[in-house]
Amino acid sequence: MLPPIVTTIAEVRRVVADVRATDRTIGFVPTMGALHEGHAALVRAARARSGFVVVSIFVNPLQFGPKEDFAKYPRTLEADQKLCGYAGADLIFAPGVEEMYPANAVTFVDVGKLGDHLCGATRPGHFRGVCTVVLKLFNIVQPDTAHFGAKDYQQARILSQMVRDLNVPVEVSVESTVREPDGLALSSRNRYLSAADRALAPRIQQSLQAVRLRALAGEIDVARLESSIGAELSAIPGARVDYARVVDAESLQPLMRLDRPAVAAVAVFLGTTRLIDNITILS
Ligand code: PAJ
Repeated sequence: MLPPIVTTIAEVRRVVADVRATDRTIGFVPTMGALHEGHAALVRAARARSGFVVVSIFVNPLQFGPKEDFAKYPRTLEADQKLCGYAGADLIFAPGVEEMYPANAVTFVDVGKLGDHLCGATRPGHFRGVCTVVLKLFNIVQPDTAHFGAKDYQQARILSQMVRDLNVPVEVSVESTVREPDGLALSSRNRYLSAADRALAPRIQQSLQAVRLRALAGEIDVARLESSIGAELSAIPGARVDYARVVDAESLQPLMRLDRPAVAAVAVFLGTTRLIDNITILS
C-alpha cells in the first residue's frame, strides 16, 4: 500500500497524536529522498521495532554549501513513495522549504568539534545544518526510535551525541551499510557516476578492506595505515581524495596508534561526484 504523503507540520502532529492514542510506538527515518535499498533497510529496521513508521523526505538547504548540489539533488517523490510502501512505512512527511524554515528562524544546533574534521573540514556548516534539521524533525514527529545508516558514520556519531547532549527523548539506532554486490555503498549520488567511474568505484571499499587487513595483521601506526589507504585511493584513475583518515570511533579525533576502537573513513571524488565510505578497524 502507498503510504500517504503529508506536507505540513500540523498534519504530521495530528496523525502522530492519533497513533499515540492507540499506544503504538513511532519509528522514524529521516531522508532527503532519491530513496534506494539503503533507505529501505532503515525503514525495515524501524518497522521491526515500532507500531508506526514515519519517513521524512526533505532536501535540506541548510546542509548544502553554496557550491554544492542542492539544486540538482535528485527529487523522485513518486518512486520514493513506492519504495516506502514496500519497505513498510506508514506515513511520509515531505515538507517544502518554507514549512521547515520560516523566514524569521534564528536558532541553530552547533555541533562543536565533532563536526570540524572529516566531512566537516571540506563542508563547513554541513553538520550544523544536519543537526538543526534533524532536531526540528524529531520535535515535529516525536518518535521513539530514529534510524540512521552507518554509511554516514560521522553523521550518525554526531546525531547520537546531539541526542545525548540535549536530552532528546529518542533512541538512535545505527544500521549497517547496504552495498551493491561489488561492494560499492548505495548512495543517491551513485547515479551521477559515469560508466567508467562506476566500474572504478568499488575500489573505495576495497582500499578500506585492505587497510583493515593490515591492521588485523598487526600494523598499529596510524600514519602508515592512512598513507596506505591514500595511496590505494590515489591509484584509482581520475580519483581525487578529499580525506582518508583513521580516527577514534567515538570522538572522531585523529589517532597516533591503533590502541582503541577506530574507524577508517574516506571521501573521494570520482569526476564531480563525491563518495564516502568507512570501515571499523578495531572495535
Ligand atoms: P540521506 O543521504 O537521504 O540519507 C538518509 C539516511 O539513509 C541516512 O541515515 C544515511 O546514513 C542512510 N543511508 C544512505 N545510504 C545508505 C546505505 N547504503 N546503507 C545504509 N544506510 C544508508 O543523510 C541524510 O539523508 C541527511 O543528512 C539527513 C539525515 C536526512 C538530514 O537532512
